[in-house]
Amino acid sequence: MDEKRYLTFALAKGRLAQKTLSLLETVGITCEEMKEKGSRKLIFVNEELGVRFFLSKGPDVPTYVEYGAADIGVVGKDTLLEEGRRVYEVLDLGFGKCRMCVCGPAQAKELLKHHEMIRVASKYPKIAKDYFYNKKHQTVDIIKLNGSVELGPIVGLADVIVDIVETGGTLKENGLEVLEEVCPLSARMIVNQVSMQMQPERIKKLIGALRESVNI
Ligand code: PRP
Repeated sequence: MDEKRYLTFALAKGRLAQKTLSLLETVGITCEEMKEKGSRKLIFVNEELGVRFFLSKGPDVPTYVEYGAADIGVVGKDTLLEEGRRVYEVLDLGFGKCRMCVCGPAQAKELLKHHEMIRVASKYPKIAKDYFYNKKHQTVDIIKLNGSVELGPIVGLADVIVDIVETGGTLKENGLEVLEEVCPLSARMIVNQVSMQMQPERIKKLIGALRESVNI
């Protein structure tokens, strides 16, 4: 007898997880256990459908998927670019839309134009490095921060930042602006490469159903 094979989903804790669950519901995948408010549980099962979900920090989602601890993951494109894991990116889920941008005070525009040696603060050093070194061919000093990156130019740690801009509200409130756009971002579905070989029908059927649902 085959041991029961679960399809395991790793979701990034927070807004993306809620939106992912709503999307999965549209294709008949539900998990009542996950809706319990205030629960500190990390793993949730729907025995009937043979699916399990777990919640992790966003940057860990591609790690779980690369190593096969999860078959499928949902995470922002920013995290995928930064982590650079070996996973299949199979679907743009169309939510969590925002932009990765170079931001700073208006006067920093000149520094960018003249390819000066500037300091760049970011939670995404790899994305920042790729943008400045490979796309702009500009040598910069990249400083890794872990959040509230907008502080960088305000307190004189950096000239500009590379960060996510959604509404632009945080920038505006802090006297900063978008100086250049690096790339558009949104939530993506990723799949473990071995899972795709081992359960191709089940996973491809799910991708097909989700693709239709996303396009409605
Ligand atoms: C993100 C990002 C910006 C902000 C952008 O931060 O780093 O700070 O959201 O959103 P807005 O354009 O709608 O203002 P997050 O809230 O994830 O926290 P963090 O600063 O700790 O990374």
